[in-house]
Amino acid sequence: MEKARKLADILGRVRDGEDPTKVRSQSRQLLATLRLSDISKAQKYLLGTGMSLNELRMLVYAFASILGDQFALLRANLPANHPVRLILAEHEMFDCFLADLAEANVEIQDAENLTELSSEFRRLEHVAAHLQSIDVHDQREDDLIFPVLEKYPCRSICIVLQKAHWRIKNMVGNLTTAVNNFKHFEPEQFKIQVNALSCAIVPIVREHIFQEDNILYPIALDVVQDEKVWRRIKQLGEEMGYCAFDAQPCCT
Ligand SMILES: [Fe+2]
Ligand SMILES: [Fe+2]
Repeated sequence: MEKARKLADILGRVRDGEDPTKVRSQSRQLLATLRLSDISKAQKYLLGTGMSLNELRMLVYAFASILGDQFALLRANLPANHPVRLILAEHEMFDCFLADLAEANVEIQDAENLTELSSEFRRLEHVAAHLQSIDVHDQREDDLIFPVLEKYPCRSICIVLQKAHWRIKNMVGNLTTAVNNFKHFEPEQFKIQVNALSCAIVPIVREHIFQEDNILYPIALDVVQDEKVWRRIKQLGEEMGYCAFDAQPCCT
């Protein structure tokens, strides 16, 4: 626990505004010997000192800025048939959809005489259909990954991420509803609605993916060493199905 407590102190300094690069170079010795499970112990310790889940959310960023790019390390060390590789690949696809949504929103805002046949609307419809598949992805994490991690000290981060799933589901659902009900909107109202939803969805989902890639999955792989557990997750995930990346393009 001593190491985790020292890490908690370091993270507290970053949270209080110290430059992460400076803190990282001053703490090089400790960080070099750190196991990812020390991070979850540090989180548990901080929650025990009365830190709220919201503050923990901020701290998740501090973890990443201290520890560097865990995602690159993680991906490099995983065989292609590991269930977490599939999850990371899906995250990368969602990153692409988010970039497309941001662009489609700009086009919608600039469009004149917007109709259901406008190329701008059809592009948005297409992106929204792809983004909807995040429900399947998040459901798999809720049903297969988080219950396994409940026994370990990273339970608190799972609670933060699970809450975000609920929020993401609502926002993406609202975007789909707006797109499906285009004809019930005045074009200007539709633009306002799409802009509000896109400007909320893009940063929130990006942040969520970042937290999972850089914190949750590195910790999960560190604490769950039993290969049988991952095989079982893979098997159940396949029964639930892959994300619907083959959604019908709107132009067919
Ligand atoms: Fe998630
Ligand atoms: Fe995810």
